[in-house]
Amino acid sequence: HRTRTTHPPLSLRPFACSLHCIHEPPLSSELFSSCSTLHLSFSPDKEGAEDSGKTAVVFSLKNEVGCLVKALRLFQEKHVNLNHIESRMSKRVPNEVEIFADCSCSKKEFNELLEHLKDHVNIVSFNTPAHVWCVEADEVPWFPMKISELDQCSHRVLMYGSELDADHPGFKDNVYRQRRKYFVEVAMNYKFGQPIPRIEYTEEEVRTWGVVFRELTKLYPTHACKEYLKNLPLLTKHCGYREDNIPQLEDVSLFLRERSGFTVRPVAGYLSPRDFLAGLAYRVFNCTQYVRHSTDPLYTPEPDTCHELLGHVPLLADPKFAQFSQEIGLASLGASDEDVQKLATCYFFTIEFGLCKQDGQLRAYGAGLLSSIGELRHALSEKACVKMFDPKTTCNQECLITTFQEVYFVSESFEEAKEKMREFAKTIKRPFSVYYNPYTQSVDLLKDTRSIEDVVQDLRSDLTTVCDALEKMNTYMGI
Ligand SMILES: [Fe+2]
Repeated sequence: HRTRTTHPPLSLRPFACSLHCIHEPPLSSELFSSCSTLHLSFSPDKEGAEDSGKTAVVFSLKNEVGCLVKALRLFQEKHVNLNHIESRMSKRVPNEVEIFADCSCSKKEFNELLEHLKDHVNIVSFNTPAHVWCVEADEVPWFPMKISELDQCSHRVLMYGSELDADHPGFKDNVYRQRRKYFVEVAMNYKFGQPIPRIEYTEEEVRTWGVVFRELTKLYPTHACKEYLKNLPLLTKHCGYREDNIPQLEDVSLFLRERSGFTVRPVAGYLSPRDFLAGLAYRVFNCTQYVRHSTDPLYTPEPDTCHELLGHVPLLADPKFAQFSQEIGLASLGASDEDVQKLATCYFFTIEFGLCKQDGQLRAYGAGLLSSIGELRHALSEKACVKMFDPKTTCNQECLITTFQEVYFVSESFEEAKEKMREFAKTIKRPFSVYYNPYTQSVDLLKDTRSIEDVVQDLRSDLTTVCDALEKMNTYMGI
């Protein structure tokens, strides 16, 4: 977690004065040999005429003796006066100190300073408002920057699946409770990159799954969306989706990877919305592996493997749905608690309880519906209240856990839902954009010219491929 370690502001005027008293040797390229990164932000005063602009500069340098003095000599040489300076440990680079310097100088002088700095350091940001420096320190919660860091999220379970509530059907069943402990161990020992352990399900568990499978598959042809109906037979073929067999997460994960780039991983119990959504950002879905209690196969107070396998997995195999899911996840990275809650509500009313319109009819794509016979029927009946999905309003709807939802939200398509989420994500307060890098399965923060330039390079090469394809269509097919 990122915590702020702000040093007390240094005395300003004396500092600026003493700076001007330094008689230093001429600047050389060695000056910044120990300053690996410089973050700059230039925010001219609104009133700022060409000659009296106020600017703010943020830079980071190694936490070593003399580094700051060396860096500040550049300001002296360019006659840039410092009004205010603060320092803190860098949140971006370990063992570096970040300096915030508020200065007064003409735009010309400031530009000269920048030009000079460019020769010595890697300039990574321009025109970033000065307040962003504080926002970054105080309000950006930790989030995984690469897929392997999801281990931290998936192991941070809020409630273990073995700790059952008194009203849980398996509360008094010691054998069931022991079994649930086993599933907790499997999930807590799991690490990114490992194959998911295969479970030898008991006859009782398979029977329970069988009842759920049989009853739900009767409803799907008339209630499930077309993407679901397309993928279910493929799952039967490739992952053993049958009434007498509980599919293994490892097989499902390999299948999904080929279809949409999604993978699944076992989880021991409930995750916080932030940790759960972080998985989606990396196209990783946290799945429970245990089976609900056998006394009531058509009811479960918590997600179980029947819910994951029958509710979520068939849709996760759809590339457009996968993109939509990832969009919600990416929007959540580094967002405030309040914004994460809004995104979690959007997740709830789409991925868990979403409806779509297909060939003039309402169909279900939400996993909470597709794994519940009662609510699936209800949501598509005339009794249900259905509204258009719009993240701005949907995010304020109350999520009901123990009863049917009071309202369901319908989208024209996953594409449309994704665009709406994308628009909504722009309203989330974050001092950066995130870009998912599929090659490294990591997230790049787009907060400076260099990182944006890298993305533009990728886009350029994609566009070159598209142009080439268009030209070939023209040449060979006359299109
Ligand atoms: Fe779910």
